[in-house]
Amino acid sequence: MAGRIPDQFIDELLARTDLTDVVASRISLKKTGQNYSALCPFHNEKSPSFSLNPNKQFYYCFGCGAGGNAISFVMEHDHLDFVDAIETLAKDAGMEVPREQGTPDRYEQNAELLKRLSESAQFYQQQLTQHPDKKKATDYLSKDRGLSGQIAKVFGLGFAPTGWDNLLKKIGTRAESQEQLLLGGMLIEKKDQPGHYYDRFRDRIIFPIRDSRGRVIAFGGRAFGDEKPKYLNSPETPVFQKSQELYGLFEAKQNTPVLDQIIVVEGYMDVIVLAQHGITNAVATLGTSVNSQHIRKLFKLVSKVILCFDGDKAGRAAAIRGLEASLPVMQDEKQIRFLFLPEGEDPDSLVRQEGKEAFNNRLEDASSLSHVLFDHARNQVTLGDEEGEAQFTRNAMSMIQQIPKELTFRSVLIRQLSEQSGIDSDTLGNTAIPKHRPAAHSQNDTLSNTENEYIPHTNTDEDHYPPAYDEYDNYSNHEHSSAPSHYENNKKPTYKKGGKFNNFKEKEVFFPPAPTSLSRIKQASICLLLHPHIAQQIDVPDPLINQANEELQIFCKIWRYFAKYPTKNTGHLLGEATDQFTISSIYALLNHQDATTKQKITNAQQEVQDMVLTMEKNLGLNSSIERLKSKGNESIKDSSSKQELRNLMDLIRQKKQ
Ligand code: UTP
Ligand code: MN
Repeated sequence: MAGRIPDQFIDELLARTDLTDVVASRISLKKTGQNYSALCPFHNEKSPSFSLNPNKQFYYCFGCGAGGNAISFVMEHDHLDFVDAIETLAKDAGMEVPREQGTPDRYEQNAELLKRLSESAQFYQQQLTQHPDKKKATDYLSKDRGLSGQIAKVFGLGFAPTGWDNLLKKIGTRAESQEQLLLGGMLIEKKDQPGHYYDRFRDRIIFPIRDSRGRVIAFGGRAFGDEKPKYLNSPETPVFQKSQELYGLFEAKQNTPVLDQIIVVEGYMDVIVLAQHGITNAVATLGTSVNSQHIRKLFKLVSKVILCFDGDKAGRAAAIRGLEASLPVMQDEKQIRFLFLPEGEDPDSLVRQEGKEAFNNRLEDASSLSHVLFDHARNQVTLGDEEGEAQFTRNAMSMIQQIPKELTFRSVLIRQLSEQSGIDSDTLGNTAIPKHRPAAHSQNDTLSNTENEYIPHTNTDEDHYPPAYDEYDNYSNHEHSSAPSHYENNKKPTYKKGGKFNNFKEKEVFFPPAPTSLSRIKQASICLLLHPHIAQQIDVPDPLINQANEELQIFCKIWRYFAKYPTKNTGHLLGEATDQFTISSIYALLNHQDATTKQKITNAQQEVQDMVLTMEKNLGLNSSIERLKSKGNESIKDSSSKQELRNLMDLIRQKKQ
């Protein structure tokens, strides 16, 4: 399985694949003259605006702008990544996907670990039906939590019986498998006996956490009673970064006929109970608040994301974190909504009380992002009269400025703010207001995944939420007073009463990019292909465009396309490109092992900009460097921000006279 797929293979696969078959096997097509038409599978519509051209092997939707070739269709329709889409098409074409020798990806590197995790999941599942104490678990699930056997199966729920070595004895029979289980967080090393282990999960209901392709990568375990922690989770491992994953995403993809929106809730149980009530499109964060990467990941799948929060103070504070995480990754034609539940309820309790329809009505009525943004800006105002107005305007603008510049959505919000404040849109649009939160918090362009992860804010002290529940996990073993003391893991949680977490910040960053031999130009090209919207922010000067360098020309082609058509994606580009060299170069880039990493980076724009700058420098175009630099979002020193506030106040005063 290792290595990249050769470009020739992709060409051949496309040549052997008929787009019409691919599409017709998934949606119903109607012949209309030379072309076919259909109801677009990528957005909801009543009359067909999806059109397929069999000669050009290209589809396009006049309603939502989706378009591309067989590969992009399968990617979008089946929610697959590039390589999986190739695998799918190859299978249909009866072709074996060849691989060139190369560095294995992280799943291949961790194949053994994943195998052990999958075996562990099976083991726990078996215990639910076979263990002598199984009744304790099945009663808990069915009687206490009202779950059907069927839904337990869909989510692969299991039972970890009491005892220190059930899993160890069953799956960790060899030294190598013990090592893997330890690496995967399933075993804990005895403090006073190095090389000796015991099971992490004991006497709990087990929730396997799957990645979006369905591979088991971690577990959550719920205590039966009031033992602490209520949920014990796998630690971070080579295959599990909790801030990256969303519980239930795989199941949502599998079980939702038309996945066009996703609800983000807080708990495992919320996801499962909603699914049991027919709301199969819910996912949960894993003890962290929702972050920009989550939203970005969801926007790749759906156009509407509904963030669900408790109606209490903590819920509202979490919603603000959700708002801040959303702003930098907003896209036109995508929506974020906020659903506030009545105090004391969670989706689990609510859907059981009032049923699917009532819950769906709540989803329909969820607040818009702009509503939450302006409300929040208003709530933070502490001054009266004009000062208050200026403060409101400033608060709102500081959030609006985090929305990418090119979005129509941003202009719409500025216009709304202009109506509310009486300051004209142009003045607002040209005002740079520094964020009042620490920049690192909502600044999205960083490789660190700590964004929005219950990093303490000065204004959320009342927030009772621990930063991440895993803080409790190190503190697991008060649950069995009969436990031999050497099993105790004495690491104290950093949770302090009153809800302040001062030192919680994960050091963990995403996997470092694999060593690469790709040139910077190619890397920048991959960035553009995977994050087309950044093209709008980038300026490529003519002298660079006119360079003879082949790589640079491909880069410029990609850039020009996305800069010109801000709503189009790589599927469109591939569908519309006519020159074979460009097409195969693009496939080669998408197929490069670095593409997986680049897909996830948040500083793609910076990377592309840096490349352009370097190239410019090489060409001696120093004047344009200044020009580009001055386009950056310069932050304002405190005194000047004060001046800004004064200016805004003056403006408001003038309007009122
Ligand atoms: P909640 O405490 O709201 O749990 O935590 P819940 O989902 O309503 O659970 P039930 O209904 O009591 O079983 C929400 C989520 O926070 C994480 C889990 O991911 C949980 O689903 N959590 C909570 C932990 O990781 N550890 C804990 O001790 C508590
Ligand atoms: Mn609950």
